[in-house]
This record gives sequence, C-alpha cells and structure tokens, in this order.
Amino acid sequence: VRLLERNRRTLREQGIRWRITGVANRRIGWISDANGLDLEPILQGTPARPGIRTQDIRGWLKASAADVLFEASSLNPSDGQPAIDHIRAALETGAHAITANKGPLVHAYEELRSLAAAKQRSFLFESTVMDGMPIFSLFQRDLPLVCLKGFRGILNSTSNLILSGIESGLSYEQSLEQARQLGVAETDPGHDVDGWDAAVKTAVLIRVLMGHAIELGEVEREGISRLKEEAIRAARTQGRPYKSLCQAWREDGRVLARVSPQQIPLSDPLAWVEGTSSMVEFETDLLPGFAIREDHPGVDATAYGMLSDFVRAVGPPAQAAGGDATAGGDGEVQS
Ligand SMILES: NC(=O)c1ccc[n+]([C@@H]2O[C@H](COP(=O)([O-])OP(=O)(O)OC[C@H]3O[C@@H](n4cnc5c(N)ncnc54)[C@H](OP(=O)(O)O)[C@@H]3O)[C@@H](O)[C@H]2O)c1
Repeated sequence: VRLLERNRRTLREQGIRWRITGVANRRIGWISDANGLDLEPILQGTPARPGIRTQDIRGWLKASAADVLFEASSLNPSDGQPAIDHIRAALETGAHAITANKGPLVHAYEELRSLAAAKQRSFLFESTVMDGMPIFSLFQRDLPLVCLKGFRGILNSTSNLILSGIESGLSYEQSLEQARQLGVAETDPGHDVDGWDAAVKTAVLIRVLMGHAIELGEVEREGISRLKEEAIRAARTQGRPYKSLCQAWREDGRVLARVSPQQIPLSDPLAWVEGTSSMVEFETDLLPGFAIREDHPGVDATAYGMLSDFVRAVGPPAQAAGGDATAGGDGEVQS
C-alpha cells in the first residue's frame, strides 16, 4: 500500500488509478468497501472504518468489486492452502491474481495458469523467488527460446543470515532473532532452517522456468539446523564456508533437485553472498555465466515485486503480461 501510494502520480500518468476496496486476514476478518477504504488505518494494521464484513473470499471479492487480488498469506508448504483457494476465487470472479506466496505455485501452478488463460486474466508471482528481482518476467518475456538446463543458488535469506550471523560471532538464536526483526523469517522459522522455503523456491523455478512438474517431495532437502555453531565458524576461517545451496539439473529426461548446506571455496561467487542477500546462477544453452544477485533486500523489495506485477497486469499493453490488460473500462482499478 505504501508503494502504491508513493507511486500514485506516476501510475496515474500511465493511466492507472487505484483504490483499496478490501483487506483481509484472520484477525480482522473480511473487510470491504467498493468506494474505497481509508489507507492510514490499513497501514497501521487496524482498518478502523468498518466497511462491509463478509464471511469468505467469494463474498469479499464481490463486495469489494475487486479487479486485482494481492495474495500474501503465510507459506503453507504442505498443500499451498488457503492461498490456492484465494487465487482460484479471484480468477474465477474475473480479477487478476498477484501472489508473493510460493505454496500455490508448487501445488497448483498449471491449474491456476490455465484458469487465468481461460479467464483472460493475469496470474503473476514475481515476489515468490528473490523478492522483486525480475526472474520470471525476464525469462518469460525477454529470453524467448532460451533453454534453462539447470541452476545453482542461495535462495533462503533467513538461513543465509543465520550462517553469516554465526560466522560473525552471534549465536544461532541471536541470528534468528535478527531475521525476525528484519521481517524476512517465515512465520514458522522451521520452514527456513529445515530447508522447506528453499525447496519450495527450487520447485517453483523448476516448474515455471524448466517446464517440469516436479513434486516438492522430489527435491532432496537438508536444512542448516544440524550444523554446529563451531563447525560453521571453523569452515569460514578455513576458507571453505558453509552455504545453503539450491541446485537443479537435467538428467535422463528428468529434472533432479537438491537443497543442502555445502562447504564451498572462496573462489566461488556464492561464498560472498552475505546476510539476506541471495544469488542464482542459471545454466542455459545460449547465455554463458548468466546470474542474478540481490544485495540485502528489505520488505520493500518484496512489495516492489507485487507492484511490478500490478503494473504488468493492468498497465498499458507494452507492460501488460498475459490475458486482458484492461482492468476496468475507465482504467480505474480496485484491489
Ligand atoms: N517477508 C518477505 O520478505 C517475503 C519475501 C518473499 C515472499 N514472501 C511471502 O509472502 C507471504 C507473506 O509474507 P509475510 O512475511 O508478510 O508473512 P506473515 O507475516 O506470516 O503475514 C501473512 C499475513 O497473512 C495472513 N494470513 C495467514 N494465514 C491466513 C489465512 N488462512 N487466511 C487469511 N489470512 C491469513 C496473516 O494474518 P492472520 O494471522 O491474522 O491471518 C498475515 O496478515 C508469505 O507467503 C511469504 O512466503 C515474503
């Protein structure tokens, strides 16, 4: 909401006007007002103006007359719910769906993509991997015909921050607390330190960019929680630091994948990816040494990924992705 507000004038110059007509989580329930909710209470986390209260996502989407849904509920690696139902309901009622939640991609990507195409709406998810860095839009729009053969990277900020924190002398608990303060830890930090978040991201990249419908259970997964603090510090001192690596490669017509802590030499660029930073090296058939790196992102970077999806969904045709680019007859968008 802050980024939308900060960019209100620029968006208007691109023909996009917006208002927030609904907001929901379990604590506040399903609040909507098709005329627009006050922004400040939403930013404070306490939407004071009552608006209309409905019981479920479908009633809420209808009452808010939403053109776009921003889905940012907590990750549920086991089945991707309830985010899948939220996105399905939005697309079925004719709204574009934008999500930062990886669960729906690993459990229902093909279904939701088909539904979006049938409804001529956009289903976009740039923030799900490496926050606002343009991985999916880059491959899908700007790298036609390039075959992704595999990738290797550091994709879980919390694990990387904990390893960096321990190397600098903090305890495991202090480092985890630092990740919580920065807002990068998953609500259940077990999803980070046991490798779930990284495994889900790996599976998402494989499904979307390598076109292979891998199941989450097929990604070999080992978290950083088994590593001892002394071993982590000693490894860095000896010049072979531990990093939690995500890897995928093609083999015998299949795609294999692994997430695990590994010691790597200092000559490897991944050894220098510190704290909340992340990096992924892509092995393609045509572009040698192609990598994307992100240094110390905050939550603004995640929000930017959702904002960029929003512009792609409802902006002028040059920026619009997939489906019908016009969100409303007069260019006014309700979210
Ligand atoms: N934080 C980041 O830097 C980052 C980066 C990339 C992607 N992501 C992804 O973005 C999503 C949100 O991240 P976050 O850090 O903001 O998570 P969070 O702190 O757990 O917030 C999730 C929000 O969703 C609501 N929620 C959870 N379950 C719900 C349900 N069943 N129905 C309705 N509302 C529900 C929560 O409120 P209630 O508990 O009141 O329901 C809360 O408002 C996650 O999927 C995460 O993986 C986050």
